[in-house]
Amino acid sequence: MIATTQPFSSETLMANKKICCIGAGYVGGPTMAMIAHRCPEIDVHVVDINSARIAAWNSDELPIYEPGLHEIVTESRGKNLRFSTDVANVIRESDMIFISVNTPTKTFGIGNGRAANLEYVEKCARTIAENSDGHKIVVEKSTLPVRTAEAVKRILMSSGKPGATFDVLSNPEFLAEGTAMEDLQDPDRVLIGGESQAAIQALVDIYGAWVPRDRIITTNLWSSELSKLAANAFLAQRVSSINAISALCETTGADVEEVANAIGTDSRIGPKFLKASVGFGGSCFQKDILNLVYLCEHFGLPEVAEYWEQVVKMNDFQKRRFSSHIVKHMFNTVSDKKIAVWGFAFKKDTNDTRESAAIYVCRDLVEERARITIYDPKVSLDQIRLELRRLMSNDQGAISPHDENLIMSNVTVAESAAQAADGAHAIAVLTEWEEFQHVDFESIFKSMHQPAFVFDGRNLLDRDLLTDIGFEVHAIGKS
Ligand code: UDX
Ligand code: UDX
Repeated sequence: MIATTQPFSSETLMANKKICCIGAGYVGGPTMAMIAHRCPEIDVHVVDINSARIAAWNSDELPIYEPGLHEIVTESRGKNLRFSTDVANVIRESDMIFISVNTPTKTFGIGNGRAANLEYVEKCARTIAENSDGHKIVVEKSTLPVRTAEAVKRILMSSGKPGATFDVLSNPEFLAEGTAMEDLQDPDRVLIGGESQAAIQALVDIYGAWVPRDRIITTNLWSSELSKLAANAFLAQRVSSINAISALCETTGADVEEVANAIGTDSRIGPKFLKASVGFGGSCFQKDILNLVYLCEHFGLPEVAEYWEQVVKMNDFQKRRFSSHIVKHMFNTVSDKKIAVWGFAFKKDTNDTRESAAIYVCRDLVEERARITIYDPKVSLDQIRLELRRLMSNDQGAISPHDENLIMSNVTVAESAAQAADGAHAIAVLTEWEEFQHVDFESIFKSMHQPAFVFDGRNLLDRDLLTDIGFEVHAIGKS
């Protein structure tokens, strides 16, 4: 039986103040590091089935790059913050267990290409059930389809040992990569959905150590689950909206930055998330919208599904439009031309490349037989090739010898932005790393073939300066 509430106060629910998190990824790692940092009286243990990842968390080379993360991890690690692969034992010892495993888009079967693959979440629930005595609070941190808590509860209830009782909470994470530590330190809001007031209070007490109480929103489970999907859909929709306008700007003489500024000063619209770009990436936006689309279809709302799907279609259009522009402006061929690609991560200040627009643009350029040399301060050649291979593989994960050969022969990396541009016909800026603004464009220009093109997919560079030097500059949403 699922215990809810009444017999327990939040004090008794968290008797020993031991929490753990399953999944030491981009969300689990930083979030737990912040809790450990802010709540020295709580023992925080992060577990993962990937032993290489855990070894990295225990080393000086953390597996993910986030400004400020290293300092916070080294401060608490070995005191009240631990990382291990000992999933079963750690669950046994913990009062509260966060599930922060990945929930990728399904690539097979029912819901292929849309629904979230909940295999890992389900496995976590079973492992928790098998290793629990007494009362545990299970917290969904992963982004999940609305009503997943129902399934998690059923699994816990049916597989749990006699006497084991559970409360399930939804506590989606809103941090953005690159600013994760700031977002965790000073969140706009923390959202906690649940059925048991005592369990909700136990989690409120943790965040309450540093987050003002009026920023901790409590709701029912389903509102919390759906709010995360809705928040990401609204954010992505803004990017697709401004990108749609950018296409119109390019053909009408309007300037997308001026338009964004003009509309963003309307307090009802607001200035954030109106930066036109080569397209949004990251592990969340596309996955969560497709998941939303799937849910709408599942619940018999095809018009609502179609509405949200358009946000992803517009993003695909923007990525494709960018690579087509490059080819078109370079005299309709990039075959055997060297193109310097500046940035591969899906945004600045992260080493994350999941769903980065750069993967799609590079794929298009390589298919046009361009030779691309990439410079990203945080992304390795192995990682780049892995992403391209993934995109160019078929449903069974197989890649043709022809495509494999293209990836091996036409994709290289450089040690600096200037080195990538040396001898190139064009520069394509795909990630907004600030260091790209501070290179010596005069000498870069001299080192390139003429005419030297710049395709600025982030409107990062000073267009007038580059034009004065002699570059032919093409930016997003500018004619
Ligand atoms: C998170 C969320 O959990 C996801 O739902 C959200 O939409 C995006 O952010 P993230 O932290 O970015 O995912 O994922 P990832 O960096 O892939 O980390 C997940 C970790 O879980 C991996 O290290 C993986 O090894 C681990 N894992 C996965 C387990 O420990 N057990 C499993 O059964 C599956
Ligand atoms: C997003 C949400 O912001 C966060 O709340 C949620 O928890 C996870 O998903 P993240 O994907 O890490 O975070 O980064 P975000 O800053 O939202 O950027 C996503 C993508 O949109 C990036 O590729 C970024 O470059 C792009 N973007 C963002 C734009 O192109 N223009 C903008 O104005 C804003």
